[in-house]
Amino acid sequence: MTDRLVVVGGGVIGLSAAWTAARDGWRVTVLDPAPCSGASWVAGGMLAPVTETWPGEEALLDLGTESVRRWPEFAARLSAAAGRDAGLRTEGTVVAATGSGDRTELDTLAGHLDRLGRPVERLAGRALRRLEPALGPDVRGGLSVPDDLAVDNRMLLDALRAAVSAAGVRLEERAVAAVRDDGTRVLGVTDTAGVETDADAVLVAAGAHSSSLHPVLDGLVRPVKGEILRLAHRAGAMPPPSRTVRALVDGRPVYAVPRSAPGHDLVLGATTSENGFDTTVTVGGVRDLLRDAERVLPGIAEYALVETTAGLRPGSRDNLPLVGALGPEGLVVATGHGRNGILLAPLTADAVGALLRGEPVPDPVRAAAAGRFAPAVSLTGGQRA
Ligand code: GLY
Repeated sequence: MTDRLVVVGGGVIGLSAAWTAARDGWRVTVLDPAPCSGASWVAGGMLAPVTETWPGEEALLDLGTESVRRWPEFAARLSAAAGRDAGLRTEGTVVAATGSGDRTELDTLAGHLDRLGRPVERLAGRALRRLEPALGPDVRGGLSVPDDLAVDNRMLLDALRAAVSAAGVRLEERAVAAVRDDGTRVLGVTDTAGVETDADAVLVAAGAHSSSLHPVLDGLVRPVKGEILRLAHRAGAMPPPSRTVRALVDGRPVYAVPRSAPGHDLVLGATTSENGFDTTVTVGGVRDLLRDAERVLPGIAEYALVETTAGLRPGSRDNLPLVGALGPEGLVVATGHGRNGILLAPLTADAVGALLRGEPVPDPVRAAAAGRFAPAVSLTGGQRA
């Protein structure tokens, strides 16, 4: 009899892992009250290990670098399986600085990357504008990072839905209340209507909602809100950049990710705040994003503002995801990806596939072991501080 896997969460992590497990022969059911509508839907879609990490986050840089390396093959296989384009864009990224403080901060990042043996090209404002004529005169310098890519997250989700369906995965619109176990191994899940679904293994990939699903996850993942805007180019306005543009504007980060989808030409993000599960789009959030983005890309003043949304990033205690076996036998978690869920999807799916087969995870994923926050237990049974 085929082993049954229940995946809790139908976002990019849950669906990517479900697709991998189904190809490995698992009978997979994905449970989510509203698949593809959470953080994965709201996201900007940057695949940006270099420009999303900072000194002190070397383990995250290693994870992201390994995952971005896997992205082209992942996108090609997914596009073939889904019969539709998964939305990968390979034009790369530029980072722009406006004030002198911002340029100093970018120099710090570039120096740090040099020391790690991952040099990036430093460019003056004029050279950056030659690459991306949409950049305005306030841009004084920056970096070119051609290996930081992007994906249209909504094309990606459409492709994942089609691919999991073709692989025989059941996608059920139900909210899971808890993972069930008998104290030793998982038995399945119970949904919010009290309906039980039995399973041989359960993968928790419920993003910001993961912590409440089993006591071993309690307090490990918290919601980190991000507001994000979608703009449409209008005739006569400066065309959008072809690369992702990240910028520091008086110390505040902002990014603009171009899209090929008609009517959604540019995604601007993102604010960061912690207000529990609140997803209100605020006047101040929209104002700040537009003000900062316009300093860097002045032409957007002529664009149409077509969407404002807020999502909840699943934040972990140390900004690394939680990927691995945790608690009762048969429970696997893949959550806490923070700002990097879309980037880390291929590597996470490969790691979950390995865990379900009883094999070691790819090397960089060991730093993200889900049990790293478990209290250490002494030989006499007491807990060490
Ligand atoms: N990955 C970008 C963000 O979370 O805003």
